[in-house]
Amino acid sequence: MIRINKDSVTLSFQDQSFDLPFLWLRDNCQCDECRITETEEKQFLLHTVPSDISPDSVREAENNIYISWPDGHESIIPINKILESGRSRYPEHKEWDDDFVPPKHDWNKFLNDKGAAIKGLEDFVQYGVIILSNAPKESNSLELLSKRFGPIHETLFERIHNVSVTGHVYNVAHTSKGLPPHNDFASYKYQPSVQALHMLENECEGGESVIVDGWKLVDDLRNDHPNYFDILCNFNIPFREFDEENETYTEAPLIQCDNNGKVESFRFSNQLMQMINPNKQGLKSFYDAYHEVSKRVHEDKYRSVFRLNGGEVLIVASLRVLHARESFIPNGKRHLQDAYYVYDNAANNIVLLSN
Ligand SMILES: [Fe+2]
Repeated sequence: MIRINKDSVTLSFQDQSFDLPFLWLRDNCQCDECRITETEEKQFLLHTVPSDISPDSVREAENNIYISWPDGHESIIPINKILESGRSRYPEHKEWDDDFVPPKHDWNKFLNDKGAAIKGLEDFVQYGVIILSNAPKESNSLELLSKRFGPIHETLFERIHNVSVTGHVYNVAHTSKGLPPHNDFASYKYQPSVQALHMLENECEGGESVIVDGWKLVDDLRNDHPNYFDILCNFNIPFREFDEENETYTEAPLIQCDNNGKVESFRFSNQLMQMINPNKQGLKSFYDAYHEVSKRVHEDKYRSVFRLNGGEVLIVASLRVLHARESFIPNGKRHLQDAYYVYDNAANNIVLLSN
C-alpha cells in the first residue's frame, strides 16, 4: 500500500513499513537511464534535480513502485530491492560459550570446496576465529589463503613473518617467554584486521595458544564502568615496533566504535605501548581505566586456551580477538609463520561465494 505525504511516500509491504523521502525516491531510481546497465552503478546525479522535488504521481504494481516526476522522468524501484537494503549483509557476531574452542575446518576443503569455504568464513565472522587443520607444513603456505582472505596485507619487517627462537629477535614472540594477549602492529594507525598464525612445527613443552574475545571484554567494561570505557575511547596511546631497519609508530585510543556506538576495534599490546608524556591531560584517569581493562585481558572468562599443533593455522579477526602464548621450554623445534589479511575481503567473500 502506498500513501503520499508532504515530503515522503509511505510504503506498507507485507508486515513492513517504510518512509521514503522524495529525494531518496528520485536518487534510487533503477531505470536504465539512471543506472549504467553493464555495471549496475548509479549514473543519476542528485544535484541535477531541485532539492524540493515532489512527484506528480506514485503507484504500486507487480512488486514495483512507479513514480512520475514533473520533468517527465518515470522512475521504477523494485520493492525487493528496498527489502534487501534492510537485511544484514554478513552473519551476526556470536558470543563464545564458557568452554569455547575455535571451530575447526579442513585446510583442503576450505580452499577447494565452495560450501566448506562459506561455512568456514561464516564461523570466522561470527566468532572472530577459526582453526584450519591438516594444513601443509611447508613455509609460505599462508600465500594460499589469499584465495579466501584476499591479498596479504603487507607490513614492515617481513611479508610472511617467521616466529621462532632461532631467527631475528625484535619482539618478545621470538623468545620462549610467555606472550601476553595482544593484537599485532598496534603501532600502525590501520592495524592488520586479520591474522593467520601457521604452526609448522611444535615439539616444545608448553607454549599453549591463548585467545581473548576483546569485544566481549570491552562490552562488559562499558556496562560495569561506563566512564572507563569513555576514557579508553578518547585517550591516545603511543605504540611502537621497530628494529635497526624498520620503524612503526602511531598514537591511537584502545577502543574505537562505529557511528552506532558498537565496538569496532580493541587495540591492545602491553609490549608495544610506549611511555605516555606525564604532562598529558587526563593521564591519572587513563591509568585507572587501563588498570581495569588490563586486569580483564587476563581473566579466564574471556579466554580460550588450546594447543596449536604442527599443520594447524589459527586465524583471528584481530581487531576483535587478541592472541597470546604461554611460555615454553625450548626443548624441540617450534616454528610459526604469520601473515595478515583484510577483514572486509574475508566477509565479502561469503557474499561472492554465495551468489
Ligand atoms: Fe602476535
